[in-house]
Amino acid sequence: MLKLENVSYLVSEKDNDKDILKNINLDFLKGKIYVITGPNGSGKSTLVKLIMGILSPTEGKIVFNDKDITNLKINERAGLGIAYAFQQPVTFKGLKVKDLLNIASNKENDFNTLCDYLSKVGLCAKGYINRPLDDKLSGGELKRIELAMVLARNALVNIFDEPEAGIDLWSFENLTKVFKELKSTTIIVSHQTKILEIADTVILLKEGKVEKIGSNSEVKPLLHLEMCGKLRGENG
Ligand SMILES: Nc1ncnc2c1ncn2[C@@H]1O[C@H](COP(=O)(O)OP(=O)(O)OP(=O)(O)O)[C@@H](O)[C@H]1O
Ligand SMILES: [Mg+2]
Repeated sequence: MLKLENVSYLVSEKDNDKDILKNINLDFLKGKIYVITGPNGSGKSTLVKLIMGILSPTEGKIVFNDKDITNLKINERAGLGIAYAFQQPVTFKGLKVKDLLNIASNKENDFNTLCDYLSKVGLCAKGYINRPLDDKLSGGELKRIELAMVLARNALVNIFDEPEAGIDLWSFENLTKVFKELKSTTIIVSHQTKILEIADTVILLKEGKVEKIGSNSEVKPLLHLEMCGKLRGENG
C-alpha cells in the first residue's frame, strides 16, 4: 500500500555528506500496525518526515497505492489520506471541541457519533462537546482531544512520532487501545514496550539503516543487545 524504494536522505555538512538514512526499503501493508524503534539519532523521525512530505528524499521513491508521491507536498499527501496524527489542534477563538471533530471528519456528526469519539478517549462527551478549545484545557485533555481527532479523521495512514510523550498512565493505556481500534495503516515511532507489543511488525533502525524487521518477539532480543552495549559503554 505504502512503499519506500531505496530511499536515502543525505545532508551536506561542510566538506562531506552525511547519510541520515541510507537505502531504506519498506512495504507498509493496509491496516497493519508498524512500530519504528531504535537508538536516539538512528533516523526514526527523519523517516516519518519523509513519509509525511515534511522532508524530501535525496534518493529513492515513495509510492502510495501505486502512485509515486515522492514529490507531493504535505497537504497533497494528506488529501490522499496520509495523516500526521498529533498536530496541535487549532485553537482559534470560538472554536469548540465538536467543531474540531467535525472539521477532522469533514462532515457534521450527530451527538452520538461525537460522544463515541470522546468516550473512546476517556472524555465525558457532555462535559467536553461544547468546551471551547482554549488554554483552559490541560495538556492531557488536549492530548485526548487530539486522539479523538485521529478517530474522527479516519485516515488511511496514521503516523505518530513518540505519541506517549507527556501523557499519564491512563491515557497511555487508552492510546494502545485506540491504536488497535484504528482501521488504518498505523506507523508509530516509539521506545515503549507496551507499544512494541501491539505491533504487527517492528522496524529497528540503527545508524540510518534497517537493522532488523520482524515481529516484536523477533526484534526484542536485538533491543536488549542494544541496551547492554549502551550499559557497557559501546556505541557511544
Ligand atoms: N538537517 C540535518 N542536518 C544535519 N543532521 C541532521 C539533520 N536532520 C537530522 N540530523 C541528524 O540525523 C540523525 C537522525 O535524526 P532523527 O531526528 O531522525 O533521529 P531519531 O531516531 O528520531 O532520534 P530520537 O530518538 O532522538 O528522536 C541525528 O543524528 C540528527 O542529529
Ligand atoms: Mg525522533
